[in-house]
Amino acid sequence: MIITIAHSKGGVGKSLLAWHLAIGLKVPIFDLDFQKTLVYTNSLRAANGHKPIEIIQPETPEAFVELIDTWPEEKHLIIDVGGFDSNLNRTAIFISDVIITPAVDRVTEIAGLYKFHQIIEELSEKMDVDIQADVLLNDVSPSARDFSVIEEMIDSLDHFQLMDAVVAHRADFYRTMEEGRGITEVKKESKAKNEMNNLIKTILKKG
Ligand SMILES: Nc1ncnc2c1ncn2[C@@H]1O[C@H](COP(=O)(O)OP(=O)(O)O)[C@@H](O)[C@H]1O
Ligand SMILES: [Mg+2]
Repeated sequence: MIITIAHSKGGVGKSLLAWHLAIGLKVPIFDLDFQKTLVYTNSLRAANGHKPIEIIQPETPEAFVELIDTWPEEKHLIIDVGGFDSNLNRTAIFISDVIITPAVDRVTEIAGLYKFHQIIEELSEKMDVDIQADVLLNDVSPSARDFSVIEEMIDSLDHFQLMDAVVAHRADFYRTMEEGRGITEVKKESKAKNEMNNLIKTILKKG
């Protein structure tokens, strides 16, 4: 199963989620972002004495397609795309089994979501397939319970559906990353760990 974390906007939590998901699922990451956030995180992991995870960095759409074509079907894979629109990112969206789009429940984020939806709509029309993205509320206030504004918006868009899992803003997510660790592999129980395990369960159910 190829799981792509995608949004045409940066700063929504794609790399953070890709990192924790890849460690939780024990699968490699394809890093398509030129910012290379995860390559850096992986070097912190090595510096802290842990075995680095597998990060693959295809440089061109052709190299990417070749890697995907030869990818064993039974092997899962996480793709972290850059926060911009490009042929490479569109290719990743097109070949994915699951697309997860992190979104923050702020009114100021809604324009960005519309823009990404438009990209998926265009791509669906061009490729003549119905591409669907699972919108994941991420980095939301831990006390937030009412997501009705964003729920209504997502309901109104053909290529989006809202995931049941929600990931809150939690320091444990970035603190563990700063040590090159995944939240699911640390011993300490935490709300962050529960949320990530719940997200993993929700994703695996789709496959
Ligand atoms: N659930 C979360 N809890 C705490 N911080 C988060 C969460 N999601 C994202 N962040 C923080 O937000 C910033 C942007 O996240 P990042 O994963 O780099 O976004 P992107 O890859 O979409 O550009 C980072 O500083 C990251 O640590
Ligand atoms: Mg990123």
